[in-house]
Amino acid sequence: MSGGRPRVVAVDGPAAAGKGTLARRLAAELGLPYLDTGLLYRAVGRRVLDRGADPRDAAAAVAEARTLTAADLLRDDLRGPQADMAASAVAAIPEVRAALLDWQRDFGRAHGAVMDGRDIGTVIFPDAPAKLFVTASLEARARRRFAELQARGVAADLAQVESEMRARDAQDAGRSAAPMKPAEDAVLLDTTELGIEQAFALALTLVRERLVQA
Ligand code: DC
Repeated sequence: MSGGRPRVVAVDGPAAAGKGTLARRLAAELGLPYLDTGLLYRAVGRRVLDRGADPRDAAAAVAEARTLTAADLLRDDLRGPQADMAASAVAAIPEVRAALLDWQRDFGRAHGAVMDGRDIGTVIFPDAPAKLFVTASLEARARRRFAELQARGVAADLAQVESEMRARDAQDAGRSAAPMKPAEDAVLLDTTELGIEQAFALALTLVRERLVQA
């Protein structure tokens, strides 16, 4: 804590821009806990699908969000196109976001944290001392996601990966509840032309500057 403010580093941005890798490495380097907040929405979406309900059904999604457990976040079926779209759909429902708000704030307040997501710097911790908005071109992000899928032996089609990503970006940025957008005081980090080491070095410098000033 510094001046009563939790030592939270907000790492927001669209899918496959590199924010997960950067956030995890920042957390390790700074000695802070790490939370991938996308997992919360993914787990809610998965539980709605398990019930045979539609992830856009607010009542069904809210019921799952309110009863989410830590074990749900450890499931091994939270990735893939179906889980991606279900997560994005439940994330557009304001009551789902409200149900997950305290959970995220409690996590960050306990010991500080590096948290990655879409609205950490705008809604969850608007007073976070350090905020990054990590982005990259749609083409670069689709290529990265495609390479990841190939590395995992999952059959995929680059054009399809790109069109699903475009749809999810539009849904995440176009929703009225906590849309994905950079906080006014976030530092933009475009990783289109950067390798992971360069991006990490830059991110670490930016975050350290902010934490020292805080
Ligand atoms: O970061 P991710 O791809 O795992 O996120 C999955 C979905 O959850 C994404 O489409 C948007 C949503 N999400 C969100 O609305 N707010 C967050 N803080 C994190 C994720």
